[in-house]
Amino acid sequence: MVVELKQSVFKLKELEGRDFLTLADYTYKEITYLLDLAKQLKIQRKRGKTVHLLKGKTLGMIFEKSSTRTRVSFEAGIYQLGGNGIFLSSKDIQLGRGETIADTAKVLSGYLDGIMIRTYSQSVVEELAEEALIPVINGLTDRFHPCQVLADLLTIKERKGAFQGLKLAYIGDGNNMAHSLMLGSAIVGMDIAVAAPEGYQPEEEVVLKAKAIAANSGANVQITEDPKGAVQQADIVYTDVWASMGQEEEQAKRELDFAGFQVNGALMNFAKEDASFLHCLPAHRGEEVTTDVIDGKASVVFQQAENRLHAQKALMVALMGVE
Ligand code: CP
Ligand code: NVA
Repeated sequence: MVVELKQSVFKLKELEGRDFLTLADYTYKEITYLLDLAKQLKIQRKRGKTVHLLKGKTLGMIFEKSSTRTRVSFEAGIYQLGGNGIFLSSKDIQLGRGETIADTAKVLSGYLDGIMIRTYSQSVVEELAEEALIPVINGLTDRFHPCQVLADLLTIKERKGAFQGLKLAYIGDGNNMAHSLMLGSAIVGMDIAVAAPEGYQPEEEVVLKAKAIAANSGANVQITEDPKGAVQQADIVYTDVWASMGQEEEQAKRELDFAGFQVNGALMNFAKEDASFLHCLPAHRGEEVTTDVIDGKASVVFQQAENRLHAQKALMVALMGVE
């Protein structure tokens, strides 16, 4: 049975045809719209209903790094919406042999309705978006991971009901996850404290941007080197791997540098009693998080991973258009 969501989905015109490169480009109203649409799509899926809002549409998915969640949730998501996804490993397409981003963007624009890209430099995603005639979605760069945070916000809303008055503590590397979480929290009005060791703090430019957004939403953005202080009174405790993709050779050094930044039972005790634990995954048990925490009762990491599907379906519907 095909469910007609069209009438019930209030369409946000300003999202049609847009790129999704960083959360900094999106307003509270737009993020709220995406979260509401994701909720509706999730309900329909749980009821076993088919919602073919992207019938006949094709998403190209360029991967220059590995992925489980991003690849499978985008591919399954577009399929569930009546469209198709094409997995494009950079090892197999001419981009990996030196064809320019600009030429790739122009060629793919003739075949596809949207492009998702996972790559190293944010500037590659920006150039692709600049040159493409179709929406470009950032599926992770060294700097940002906005799709993950969209799913994280959906998860937090499901667990906690509202964002205002909540505190998220991010413990670990001031990386792509820390950056996107700071921006996402600032937009929705949720306080965030990032605890990272010296030398691994988030980029100053992103901190300033998050603080500027937070000044309007009423959120507080705090950067510290003290994990206990950050976790104090937190509603959500979040961590990520110490060595991200592309930093594998730094693993041993990072294990030493991040030694005091593990999310374990002792650290969780500083958070609120009903605090939830989130992790974008993949996780390294025994490094950034202990098994008892990630597999314990506070952990919502698999709900969070599932929400990638629902959040990104909403994103694709909003950007790639409802016919
Ligand atoms: N969280 C996340 O993006 O996972 P993958 O690397 O498996 O896509
Ligand atoms: N910071 C991690 C996130 C993985 C989803 C990385 O970039 O590898």
